[in-house]
Amino acid sequence: MTGGPEAGPRHVAIIMDGNGRWAQARGRPRLFGHHAGAKRVREVVECCPALGVKYLTIFAFSTENWKRTQVEVAGLMSLFRRYISKEMKALATKNVRVRFIGDRERLDKKLIQLMDALERETADNDRTHLTIALNYGGRDEVARATKRLAQDVASGKLDPESVDEETLPRYLDTCVLPDPDLVIRTSGEARISNFLLWQSAYAEYEFIDTLWPDFTAEELARLCQGYGGRDRRFGAVKT
Ligand code: FPP
Repeated sequence: MTGGPEAGPRHVAIIMDGNGRWAQARGRPRLFGHHAGAKRVREVVECCPALGVKYLTIFAFSTENWKRTQVEVAGLMSLFRRYISKEMKALATKNVRVRFIGDRERLDKKLIQLMDALERETADNDRTHLTIALNYGGRDEVARATKRLAQDVASGKLDPESVDEETLPRYLDTCVLPDPDLVIRTSGEARISNFLLWQSAYAEYEFIDTLWPDFTAEELARLCQGYGGRDRRFGAVKT
């Protein structure tokens, strides 16, 4: 395989890490790094069609991120609200469909309203599918899915004997999305931090040193090309 859009990943998922260190290296507060990181999101979303990436999923806020200082958490929530209001038009005109995954219950009402509006406004788009993980944790998602599955068993809607590998994904937040082909984590950490645990069982991983605010479309293109050269066997032996 030679790479290129045809052989490249269809679904790329990104753990956008390193905003804090990027800001600290410039003697600025951590939120400065998050703002710089938010600007990168647009560039990366826009380059997806040329790379053959139909689905992009980004990790914006984890269920563990509440442990950060109140100032940082409030700043991030305000950044998400601003990002959604500001980017709504651009995303709609670029034919991007936006979805959110994660547990909305702990988020503030205003933010939930904006998320709902953005999902509604972009519901007919289909060029790029952007999924934003917000208050998301893989274990939390599996637990919430299991709860709903158990409710369906209890109410007689689901026969427990019929439960197999295909059943649980139907209850996950990502039920309408294909599994990610390539998961990228920036900033030099080789961890998956509770991101898309079930869905990434057969994904390829790229851990790169670049801090998220320095990540570019060119780097994504290079990683997609590298992916095109790989031999994915999904546990089978190549014949
Ligand atoms: C991790 O960097 C980044 C986050 C917890 C937030 C990610 C948010 C953005 C990129 C901003 C906007 C996103 C959207 C969708 C508008 P870190 O703070 O852990 O960095 P560090 O490891 O250097 O401290």
